[in-house]
Amino acid sequence: MEITKICCIGAGYVGGPTMAVIAQKCPHIQVTVVDLNEQRIKDWNDPNTDNIPIYEPGLSEIVAEARGRNLFFSTEVEKAIDEAQVIFISVNTPTKTYGKGKGMAADLKYIELCARQIAKVAKQNKIVVEKSTLPVRTAEAIKSILDNTGNGVQFQILSNPEFLAEGTAVKDLLNPDRILIGGDSTPEGELAIEALVNVYANWVTKDKILTTNVWSSELSKLTANAFLAQRISSINAMSELCEKTGANVNEVAKAIGMDSRIGPKFLKASVGFGGSCFQKDILNLVYIAKSYGLNEVADYWEQVIIMNDHQKRRFSNKIVQTLYNTVADKKIAFLGWAFKKDTNDTRESAAIYVADDLINEQAEISVYDPKVSRNKMLCDLGYLETRSEVENAKALTIFNNAYEACKESHAIAILTEWDEFTTYDWQKIYESMHKPAFVFDGRNILNAKELESIGFIYNGIGS
Ligand code: UDX
Ligand code: ADP
Repeated sequence: MEITKICCIGAGYVGGPTMAVIAQKCPHIQVTVVDLNEQRIKDWNDPNTDNIPIYEPGLSEIVAEARGRNLFFSTEVEKAIDEAQVIFISVNTPTKTYGKGKGMAADLKYIELCARQIAKVAKQNKIVVEKSTLPVRTAEAIKSILDNTGNGVQFQILSNPEFLAEGTAVKDLLNPDRILIGGDSTPEGELAIEALVNVYANWVTKDKILTTNVWSSELSKLTANAFLAQRISSINAMSELCEKTGANVNEVAKAIGMDSRIGPKFLKASVGFGGSCFQKDILNLVYIAKSYGLNEVADYWEQVIIMNDHQKRRFSNKIVQTLYNTVADKKIAFLGWAFKKDTNDTRESAAIYVADDLINEQAEISVYDPKVSRNKMLCDLGYLETRSEVENAKALTIFNNAYEACKESHAIAILTEWDEFTTYDWQKIYESMHKPAFVFDGRNILNAKELESIGFIYNGIGS
């Protein structure tokens, strides 16, 4: 089957960039991205592509090229489903906040809603692709809904997990390490797999396109994220030991990373990993393991999360202890709020938890992040439900410039590794602060020696 029309449900961090790149690389395919959120679609259609709702280096140029040609953003979900041969599901699958599996299992209500909507609308056979990260065996649930509520048409369900990392989404999509497509090994399943392989083959060489059964594909996504997150928790565990013993975690990471069996990536000690995937996927893994009675397996992976939570708490504790055991009414400047550089996404960002701890200690937080809006920061804090909106707004002041945010502060905490932080006039910042002036570098990006020569008291992670 030659694919000419694709629909993607969900115009978020996964759906938006992925579809923009498919549209750019496949001008013969019409790609329509739909979302229930009208404002989000309006933003994607902003005549100035610099204003699209998701910040990713290189994305605005691709949208400018393909939008209106073969890339469309719309709220007409049913029409797009009806017209497409392939439907990608890229809706959010947050961790459940209620009921059974609360705080651990993925909330599949958005997925189920999509499946029901597809079943209602579809009048021809369709390929449905699960793109959102989902726990193993979700495809089965989608299939069951489609087969039992549909109009008698045939659906093929494929799992095609996304491996893009935010901040490098465009680069990862243009030049992926691999594309993974899971499907049924029936003749119809194989045809569906082939159809999707041919879409990617427009720009990815066939040797990088891996096909598997559905469950292997679903589990590979969780496994990849669990392994990556585990490396960060492992190096972060070492960072605490380094601080106690006088070793330097950057040196340790470099030394072990040169062992080709270990490799240099994902060994950067930090205030803790964030993002929409790692924590959620590991919790899913833990939940699945528990539901099969595999308690040791569950505990093993859960420890990765426990270590990450400890690392965030340890960072805020260190700030309090170093500032003579009290931060009450002291101004602490946060540089960065996003969970990593080059994205405006803040989901599970360490900054949120560190801010919450410090506000509990009655500190005043002033924040500067190049891409995150004030509203988003306040929503992030509000979501924790520690205190009222008014109290949060009082404790958190947001600046659109780092120099202003740092002025008259007692300490600076680096929460995101934005490149621009390394280019500042740190002498000028030092002069505007209360003394002694502290820097807590949660990303190990600043030059400790240079800051110390200016007069700062510098604290990195793991040294
Ligand atoms: C991750 C996976 O990398 C990607 O393949 C998957 O599809 C989605 O989840 P993402 O969450 O966008 O991507 O970012 P990633 O680069 O993996 O970083 C996650 C977190 O770990 C960030 O907070 C980052 O700052 C932190 N991190 C990363 C470290 O603290 N140290 C490191 O060495 C690497
Ligand atoms: P991700 O990082 O997985 O892309 P996001 O939260 O950025 O997650 O994006 C998911 C998008 O899916 C949101 O914009 C949300 O409005 C949209 N969405 C959720 N459920 C539906 C649905 N049933 N129909 C259309 N869009 C949906």
